[in-house]
Amino acid sequence: MPIKPKPLTFPKNFVWGVATAAAQIEGAAFEDGKGESIWDRFARIPGKVLNGDTLDVANDHYHRYPQDFALMRKLGIKNYRLSVSWPRIYPNGDGEINPKGLEFYNKLINSCLKHGITPWVTLFHWDLPQSLEDRGGWTNRATADAFAVYAETVVKALSDRVKNWITLNEIVCFTLLGYSKVGDKAPGRKESEKVVNQTYHHALLCHGHAVKAVRNFGGKGARVGITDNSAVPIPVTETPADIAAARAWFIEKNSRILEPIYTGRYSADHKKRMGADMPDVQKGDLGLISLPTDFLGLNIYTGAFVRAAKGKRYEELPLPADFPRSSCPWLNIMPQVLYWGTRLPAEIYKVPAIYITENGCGYDVETLTESGEVHDLHRRDLVRNYLHELHRAIADGVPVKGYFLWSFMDNYEWQDGYTRRFGIVHCDFKTQKRTPKTSAKWYAKVIAENRLV
Ligand code: BGC
Repeated sequence: MPIKPKPLTFPKNFVWGVATAAAQIEGAAFEDGKGESIWDRFARIPGKVLNGDTLDVANDHYHRYPQDFALMRKLGIKNYRLSVSWPRIYPNGDGEINPKGLEFYNKLINSCLKHGITPWVTLFHWDLPQSLEDRGGWTNRATADAFAVYAETVVKALSDRVKNWITLNEIVCFTLLGYSKVGDKAPGRKESEKVVNQTYHHALLCHGHAVKAVRNFGGKGARVGITDNSAVPIPVTETPADIAAARAWFIEKNSRILEPIYTGRYSADHKKRMGADMPDVQKGDLGLISLPTDFLGLNIYTGAFVRAAKGKRYEELPLPADFPRSSCPWLNIMPQVLYWGTRLPAEIYKVPAIYITENGCGYDVETLTESGEVHDLHRRDLVRNYLHELHRAIADGVPVKGYFLWSFMDNYEWQDGYTRRFGIVHCDFKTQKRTPKTSAKWYAKVIAENRLV
């Protein structure tokens, strides 16, 4: 009997791209008037970042972006998610503007477009100006006011060429993981639960300010959304009972961020859980936070297994010690997160469009063969399996419109420095030589054919 494989084709106009962030690739940390960021400071505290790696040079993208865009074009990459560095535009976070910072992003965007690549710009990807941190950072409501001015400045400057805006990247990672005892990210403070909840709330205000800036100054066709790394459950069996448990888990775990954005309130359940640790909320805050957006960006890497249990809303199963994972201890390999991680928010919050703004994996040992290749078959395999689940979500009617692989090239992986490689392009940090890995060549084919190959 002849076998006729069915092609796993993605919808017409599906957005395929790659992602990076300013602090992780630009380098030039103190060039052309850029101010110090909390990560510049944090990296210099002994013991905070593996090998004491700093962001000073990184991929030197600040000087090499034309070559990087040329390489993207060669790989057929048509969409690129990047971020703008706040301390490059406002070295102190507020006050005096740095014209050279704006000039850099003007040139960068022009070069991106010249190479036929559509930019997707994130306004904040963790590099808070140190000067604002010195005044309280995310614990201080004034940080949100400063952000409002910064967001407006950037949108005004680039909106004639940039139409896709992302307000913030992963609130959890610069609030909870930077300001509580469970965190290992900058600025490395250890605050109380109440203060941490306040940092979330201030970040949500920034999201609202950025939405407003895009609506007011984005021009025709501008679209805006947040990128969240929502916690994702996988129902152990796809039965109504386990799915209901997963749904309850999803709502509860993401109630700090998605509920206020999509419902305009902190839910009764959330308030009950937080008790006296609820943040101070001022009149008008929730209206700002819940301004309508055009899409939800999701960074999805991993998740948790959940099932129904008697007398409880859900039960989360502990992962066995030898569950397959990448080199990151947190990145357990669970392709189904791209199915449930998109389906659940679409169902619960009626999100009109979803983009996977990050997905990928990090490995510590990725060496060049004698012929100068990097056979990262584990990455190719992982991305393929995850995309298979994303395809299933789309086939079931989930409005997923695009996928950005993290990351275009190996870069500064925050507290793991340059050891942990997430790129589909290998970077030799001594010579700055870029080498597309096997996964990049495979992904180029996926993009070209708009299907899983
Ligand atoms: C972040 C990236 C990071 C990646 C891998 C995401 O949490 O947005 O900046 O490099 O995950 O850890």
